[in-house]
Amino acid sequence: MIATSRLHLWSLERHDLMKNYHWANQRQLIRWTGMHPFPKTAGELERWFENLSGRQDMKIFAIKTKDSEYVGNIELRDIDWLTGKAEVGIFLAEPEARGLGLGREALRGLVDFAFLDLRMHRLYAKILETNSAAQKAFESCDFELEGRERQAHYDQGRHWDVLAYGLLEPDWKKKRHATH
Ligand SMILES: CC(C)(COP(=O)(O)OP(=O)(O)OC[C@H]1O[C@@H](n2cnc3c(N)ncnc32)[C@H](O)[C@@H]1OP(=O)(O)O)[C@@H](O)C(=O)NCCC(=O)NCCS
Repeated sequence: MIATSRLHLWSLERHDLMKNYHWANQRQLIRWTGMHPFPKTAGELERWFENLSGRQDMKIFAIKTKDSEYVGNIELRDIDWLTGKAEVGIFLAEPEARGLGLGREALRGLVDFAFLDLRMHRLYAKILETNSAAQKAFESCDFELEGRERQAHYDQGRHWDVLAYGLLEPDWKKKRHATH
């Protein structure tokens, strides 16, 4: 478990699945995160969970408040151990958990873990051009805008740009020394 001041990031457990089933069927959340738009069945969620077990290229953490309220997930995807890079994904599915700085706090916790404990060198994220909350959350954790994939996403009748953000370990370390 990874602890931050207000949160615990736990490895995703089977008992977390029912909430994920509801979240994976929430239209607005699907749109923000760019998930596949098909509604998901409970069986599909079960298979998705089974498939996570023992994976070395992916790790999903349940974001829980210190009162054990489960509010969202944060994950490392496509972990490439040779290069030391991974994609970061996050969502706070419970609306009352958003806008309180918890996203930023969970991101900081995961970034510290990835650089310090996993010896990652580069973290990156893909964020829809329309998702300003996510852009700000990643920027406040020192991710830099690296590029724009033009019209790389389709939603609601039109194509949208996807922004590429990245953070290198040496840059994170410099910022960390400057603030500690
Ligand atoms: C993106 C997300 C993780 C950010 O977490 P959060 O806890 O809500 O964000 P924070 O409270 O840390 O705020 C981060 C910044 O976004 C701003 N922000 C928050 N909600 C916003 C909104 N709806 N629109 C614009 N800006 C917003 C905050 O003011 C803050 O800006 P600041 O750094 O200038 O103060 C969360 O909003 C979320 O889960 N959204 C839905 C799923 C999603 O979009 N996931 C990301 C996919 S790439």
